[in-house]
Amino acid sequence: MSDGFCLITGGCGYIGSHTVYELIKKKRKVIVVDNLINSSQKNIKNIQKHTNSKIIFHKLDIRNENQLSLIFKKYKKIDSVIHLAGLKSVNDSNKNPLDYFENNIGGTITLLRVMNRFRCHKIVFSSSATVYSENQLPPYSENSALGYKNPYALTKLTIERMLNDLSKSHKTWKICILRYFNPVGSNTDGIIGEESINPTNLFPIIAMVILEKKKTLNIFGNDYPSKDGTAIRDYIHVEDLARGHINALSHLNKSRYSIFNLGTENGHTVLEIVKVFEKILLKKIPIKIVNRREGDVASSFSDCSKARRTLKWKVRKSLFDMCKDTLKWHNIVSK
Ligand code: NAD
Ligand code: WQD
Repeated sequence: MSDGFCLITGGCGYIGSHTVYELIKKKRKVIVVDNLINSSQKNIKNIQKHTNSKIIFHKLDIRNENQLSLIFKKYKKIDSVIHLAGLKSVNDSNKNPLDYFENNIGGTITLLRVMNRFRCHKIVFSSSATVYSENQLPPYSENSALGYKNPYALTKLTIERMLNDLSKSHKTWKICILRYFNPVGSNTDGIIGEESINPTNLFPIIAMVILEKKKTLNIFGNDYPSKDGTAIRDYIHVEDLARGHINALSHLNKSRYSIFNLGTENGHTVLEIVKVFEKILLKKIPIKIVNRREGDVASSFSDCSKARRTLKWKVRKSLFDMCKDTLKWHNIVSK
């Protein structure tokens, strides 16, 4: 294992902080950079307190080439980067596409330039299952057809293609792309979790309904071709997802360019999720069936055989764990 630093961009965010926690558990030296546009230092402060460790943190925007260069200069031995910094709302990307192109694509270009200048050529990149074309049935494997339906997805696809070209340009680059399905939950210790201010994803919204911050859960459509008519997704526990980054880092030593899906390979309907929460809480969650949400697909779930085989990675957490740990983070059940 390397004794150099691993730089985590977007390390204060939801997936970033869980990844930092897994790295700290593995005694890796980490540096977190984040502009805190969608997070705070709370998660990494909690990790430090809980593990009695020191996490180096710098508040900066990865588009600021000078500031980013100073980090590489200061710490000298940054030998790998896990790149999670980016904007992630599909809805927002439809309204403000330029912000997404500038932040996600622009930020990545600046990061890669600085990495190249300081001869750091190992990168793990957060991509998304949103890059798969909807004109095919799941499960999606890494070879499934690609496509995009919104600016956010286009940024992920563009960055993937940039990374592919970069890997061909010089053999020193070692690149691993991870395509996440639907990350949910929070770490089992209950010390870190998702901090979204205005959530649109299913799990944080269910938590809001349980906490009575929202009256009902609007279920977007019950006329999909599934057993109960609600849409199917591949929800993955964020702790399992975070562990995948550790395997991906090791894999960088073996492969110059690789892509892996990270999911559970199981699809669950919205109503199934609601039922698991109800079973844990022993009470009903108020729901209302409303129209389909624009842009939603009927079904998305993964084939992760490549990650299981090559990264020797497999999920450990069940759907019950995902729901239970969400409730722990929101202090609805005890930690
Ligand atoms: P998040 O918003 O919690 O984390 C992203 C972090 O990046 C935030 O802390 C934000 O402040 C920071 N950031 C944004 N732009 C930055 C910039 N220019 N410079 C420095 N920091 C910046 O989101 P997340 O859910 O943790 O997602 C992390 C990554 O995973 C994102 O790239 C996202 O697109 C990708 N992803 C997320 C999901 C999901 O459902 N959460 C699914 C697939 C892929
Ligand atoms: C899940 C299911 C909704 C909220 C999004 C992005 C994707 C990826 C993950 C980054 C769907 C239903 C939801 C609600 C509902 N992010 N739902 N009522 O849409 O699969 O994926 O996050 O890469 O790119 O698009 O996740 O959690 O929003 O929805 O019925 O109030 O829950 O229709 O079927 P989604 P989600």
